[in-house]
Amino acid sequence: MVGVLSEEMHGIQKKDEVHLELIESGVDFFRTYADQCHHGKEEDILFRDLAKKRLSLEHKKIMDELIEEHRFGRETVGKLLSAKERYVKGDTAALNGIIGFLKELVEFYPAHIEKEDKHFFLPCMEYFSKEEREVMLRQFDEFDKKLIHKKYRQLVEGFERRR
Ligand SMILES: [Fe+2]
Ligand SMILES: [Fe+2]
Repeated sequence: MVGVLSEEMHGIQKKDEVHLELIESGVDFFRTYADQCHHGKEEDILFRDLAKKRLSLEHKKIMDELIEEHRFGRETVGKLLSAKERYVKGDTAALNGIIGFLKELVEFYPAHIEKEDKHFFLPCMEYFSKEEREVMLRQFDEFDKKLIHKKYRQLVEGFERRR
C-alpha cells in the first residue's frame, strides 16, 4: 500500500487529479490493517508483555518511540481523510494537503517498519521464555480471529446509531 500510494502521490502532482477511491481504500488499509490489526497486536500484546519486563534503557526508549510513531500514523491518516473530504466538497486547495499527508505516510511507514524489524523485535524476544512466546502467538491468533467480526459489528452499529 505504501508503494501504491507513493505512485499515486507522484501521479497527483503530474496530472493534478486524484484517484479518490484509492485514497479511501488507503485510509481503510491504514486504519483497519495497519492500526487495528498490526499496531493492535504490537501494543495490546507484545508491548503490554514487554512492559512487565526489566527492559534495557535502549529497548524502553525504542518502545516509547514506536508507540509515539503509531500515534503519529493515526493522526496523519486522520488528516489525510479530512483533506480528502474537503477536496470532495470542492476545496481544490485541499489537494496540497492530500499530497503532503501522503508524503508523510509513505516516508514514515518504511522507517517505522525498519526500526521494528532491524532494531527491536528480534532482540526483544530474549526477554521471553519459549512458553511466553507461545502464549503470545496464541493471543495474536485470537486477536486476528476477532478482528473482522469487530470491524463489521462496528460498521453496522454505526449505521444503527444514525437511524
Ligand atoms: Fe509498529
Ligand atoms: Fe509493526
